[in-house]
Amino acid sequence: MLDTKKIRADFKILNNPAGGQMVYFDSACMSLKPDVVVQAMDDYYFKYSACAFRSSHHLSEQATKKTKEARKLVADFIGAKKTDEIIFTRNTTEGINLLANAFPFKKGDIVLVTDKEHNSNLVPWLYLRDKIGIEVRICPSNINNTFDLEKFKELVKGVRLVSMVHTSNLDGVTNPAKEIVEIAHKNKALVFLDCAQSLPHQKVDVQDLDVDFIAFSGHKMLGPTGTGVFYGKYELLESLNPFLVGGDTVEFTTYTDYKMLPVPEKFEAGLQDYAGIIGLGEAVKYLSQFNFKDIKNHELELNQYITDEISKFPQIKIIGPQDPSLRSGIINFYLEGTDMHKFAIMLDSMAMVEIRSGQHCVHSYFADRKIRNSARVSLYIYNTMEEAKIFVENFNKIMKII
Ligand code: ALA
Repeated sequence: MLDTKKIRADFKILNNPAGGQMVYFDSACMSLKPDVVVQAMDDYYFKYSACAFRSSHHLSEQATKKTKEARKLVADFIGAKKTDEIIFTRNTTEGINLLANAFPFKKGDIVLVTDKEHNSNLVPWLYLRDKIGIEVRICPSNINNTFDLEKFKELVKGVRLVSMVHTSNLDGVTNPAKEIVEIAHKNKALVFLDCAQSLPHQKVDVQDLDVDFIAFSGHKMLGPTGTGVFYGKYELLESLNPFLVGGDTVEFTTYTDYKMLPVPEKFEAGLQDYAGIIGLGEAVKYLSQFNFKDIKNHELELNQYITDEISKFPQIKIIGPQDPSLRSGIINFYLEGTDMHKFAIMLDSMAMVEIRSGQHCVHSYFADRKIRNSARVSLYIYNTMEEAKIFVENFNKIMKII
């Protein structure tokens, strides 16, 4: 069981008397950061804010040591075989763009995605379709938004890359990654998983999944904003073209030539966000103290309560399966004909309940189903049943007046 009282004491932002009793239910967009993460970044800026891997003075050596530690922490956290399989990026989107630009696609190659992709795992492929003529194939979900494995088996034939969301930011449904990878590999397709929403909430072990590439964001897993990771199997990373090139990606240059450094340096051009990387390492350390089963049970308990309460209104539609155990920490709902931004703004102004409203960067899903927008609650380790009750109390008030 999670000790939320103890956890909340680790987050200054939740203990700010001037802030009142905020209910933060928007962690799928941006998680809060424990004080240790902010402190680690502060330490970098106040004590050793130098370039890592370049100069030989002791400040730089300290930055190098801490950056290396962070890479190792991340590698161990996801079960990577080698530390060098971890490439630091700014976010999941950058990781996917790296793959789209570095993978040796040619005209006619097929990329298979689901019908619930975040724009970040749809636009790069549509862009590549327009640029070089790849085909983007869409795998439709079951009627309740769960993964249709039978359909996938049909559509994966002839595919070069399966690029799919692991856990959806739209409805919290987790796709069966292990089966997807197994079937894809049997069909000679490689697999990329967008783990932005899965990795902060459940164990993702890249070796166990045998997945070829993944990407995720630090800011959804208690880490600093502007940090992310792209992972790939080492031999595959070696075979990719570099994406951004320049300083620190090369061993040497002449006026007419250059020699690229090996992975991961060839993918990390220019000075990096060392404070962010070090903060991300600290977030991984902090998250590692919890058992993912406890996180899952905690989110489910709150999700079950909120789902039961809001389902008392038949006009409320929950996106995805009705069963909260299939939606991890997400409750995304709408009222036909209502602008759900209004709903979210009322929750904020009435009781400082912070949720996200809109189309959640999955515009394609809303456009196809002609749904205007929705309001999304997303839960994490620091949320409590008391907060869920505050949400429900104010939800009920809004339902009377909206
Ligand atoms: N992907 C983020 C979200 O769902 C931005 O809120």
